[in-house]
Amino acid sequence: MKKPALALMFLLLMAGTVAADENGGGSEGEASFGGLAAFGVGLVFTGVAYYSLTKRRLIIEHRKGSPQIVVRPERPYITVFGPVYPMTVHHAFTVTGTLLALIHFATCRDYSTLAGKAGLGMAIVLILMNISGFYGRYIHVKLEMAARKKQSGKLKRLAVLLRRWKLFHVALAGLFLILLGIHIAAVGD
Ligand code: HEM
Ligand code: HEM
Repeated sequence: MKKPALALMFLLLMAGTVAADENGGGSEGEASFGGLAAFGVGLVFTGVAYYSLTKRRLIIEHRKGSPQIVVRPERPYITVFGPVYPMTVHHAFTVTGTLLALIHFATCRDYSTLAGKAGLGMAIVLILMNISGFYGRYIHVKLEMAARKKQSGKLKRLAVLLRRWKLFHVALAGLFLILLGIHIAAVGD
């Protein structure tokens, strides 16, 4: 993994543990570190939103360069200059967010409640999303190589595979949102 992505993940992990500092607690069978999970889910959302917005140049655009933020009165309003690509931000934020949420998940001893089942579902979906994410990046790299080498047959095949992969990746994100809604409603009862 690239050094900037690792450095970003380390920084976020530290920020997460400081921001959501608590001593565990939680009665028997119940999960602790809910604050850490909330911070982790916040990171996942930020990582998805940043990639999604910059990709479409909606509100924010991202350019390579020394770090600074420029705000203008016309679209896309905000230009963020940074040393990493938006995909690296997506990658680092979603992986770190997943790790923080899994700490909360691992402290639960009773997965039979509605909140527990939704939590178990989210943990599985998060792990699948991360694995699928790395596979998607792999297809992206293969596709770029095929484009550079002008291998049109391979390019077409990879483009179809990428479209299918993306559908799967985004569908999992939708499923995660539904489970999160159920989880929050159930723990709030
Ligand atoms: C916004 C994010 C989240 C918040 C605020 C949150 C909060 C909570 C709270 C308050 C509890 C009950 C603990 C208690 O009563 O002591 C709980 C339980 C649990 N959470 Fe989360 N959670 C979040 C995300 C997640 C995620 C992403 C997962 C899975 C990766 C997860 C898995 C679990 C599990 C398995 C339990 C145990 C079920 C139970 O206690 O009945 N949570 N969560
Ligand atoms: C909890 C974890 C994750 C969630 C919820 C998530 C969610 C999403 C969503 C919603 C998109 C579509 C964005 C858009 O087009 O507007 C996306 C795109 C993408 N994600 Fe993830 N993702 C996660 C983890 C990862 C990881 C770990 C990687 C691997 C490094 C990854 C790689 C990608 C790639 C390559 C795309 C771009 C597809 C494209 O624009 O062609 N994702 N992700």
